Amino acid sequence: MILVTGGAGFIGSNFVLDWLAQSGEAIVNLDKLTYAGNLENLASLQDNPNHIFVQGDLGDSALVAQLLAQHRPRAVVNFAAESHVDRSIHGPEDFIQTNIVGTFRLLEAVRAYWLALPEADKTAFRFLHVSTDEVYGSLTKDDPPFAEDNRYEPNSPYSASKAASDHLVRAWHHTYGLPVVTTNCSNNYGPYHFPEKLIPLMIVNALAGKPLPVYGDGQQIRDWLYVKDHCSAIRRVLEAGTLGETYNIGGWNEKPNLEIVHTVCALLDELRPKADGSSYATQITYVTDRPGHDRRYAIDARKIERELGWKPAETFETGIRKTVEWYLANSDWVAHVQNGSYRDWVSKQYAGSVA
Ligand code: NAD
Ligand code: TYD
Repeated sequence: MILVTGGAGFIGSNFVLDWLAQSGEAIVNLDKLTYAGNLENLASLQDNPNHIFVQGDLGDSALVAQLLAQHRPRAVVNFAAESHVDRSIHGPEDFIQTNIVGTFRLLEAVRAYWLALPEADKTAFRFLHVSTDEVYGSLTKDDPPFAEDNRYEPNSPYSASKAASDHLVRAWHHTYGLPVVTTNCSNNYGPYHFPEKLIPLMIVNALAGKPLPVYGDGQQIRDWLYVKDHCSAIRRVLEAGTLGETYNIGGWNEKPNLEIVHTVCALLDELRPKADGSSYATQITYVTDRPGHDRRYAIDARKIERELGWKPAETFETGIRKTVEWYLANSDWVAHVQNGSYRDWVSKQYAGSVA
């Protein structure tokens, strides 16, 4: 079996669902269930004995040691993190605690477990750390996309905390020989994406008749990957990645934010036209820019294609259509995540910010 952390979040839950759909291998899923963790994402696994959910913190050394001893996983995949840049600007402390201290404690617990494994299991063991392209900083329009040997230049509390965790993982390999691989992926989108991030926020606000808040001039560029493609890349790296290496994962889909918002509006105009015949795009509202806003991210995903034969299955056009359709078909999920703490966040983040 394998153990994942953060498997009730956006990417983690997609990974768990895909894993169990494609293999008979069991998963222990350790998740703290912060505001971003949602067991509803995993409701279809309720009667699946191959999914063992444990609520807890990746930094709880005793709990992690007990889970490792009890379940004896052949691999650990670390998704758990505080993941939202805007929240990291309002309150960086949780990011330091979970992303840095938590990863450190997880590495130590895993190292102790790994050291005591029989030789064959020790050789086969993997620790896969899931990270982000944001650790590389910001590109200008003409810079080449991020390659694995790019310098780390994180600019936000979120990306700085992820960069620190990547460095810890690297050091645990070089110093202690822990068999690690790290993935640095671009922006994901797809089902179960919490509506604080750009794409789900736009879908949810559009349908609710609310403003669609575009930061600054809306010309910041992100490289978008459908979440199921990220999950297939992680499975491939876990299976065949070279120890100690990092793999950049991306969709070759660089798009300015404003274009993303217009694409979402056009799909909603087609699939759920407004009663008055106007476009959802009329709800676009320019708001004050994010402090320290990175201008452009882009991923050079040639290494994972060349060495491991991985390529994304979805284009942006197919993936974004599936995503909008998923949100239209899952209004209950959306309603349930929009609880009191979600409303508090939205009013704090967007209050008085119209540019
Ligand atoms: P998310 O915020 O949706 O989910 C994070 C999950 O981790 C939640 O279920 C939460 O409850 C859990 N968690 C938080 N703190 C924890 C702790 N201390 N102990 C145990 N569980 C804890 O995040 P996501 O978008 O699914 O991202 C998953 C990982 O992928 C993160 O490491 C993130 O940095 C990375 N990543 C995300 C993206 C993206 O576009 N979302 C892109 C590249 C990399
Ligand atoms: P986000 O989904 O928060 O991901 P990240 O900051 O990790 O890339 O934001 C994606 C882009 O969309 C980013 O450039 C900020 C921008 N954005 C808006 O313009 N308006 C919004 O309300 C949000 C949440 C993001």
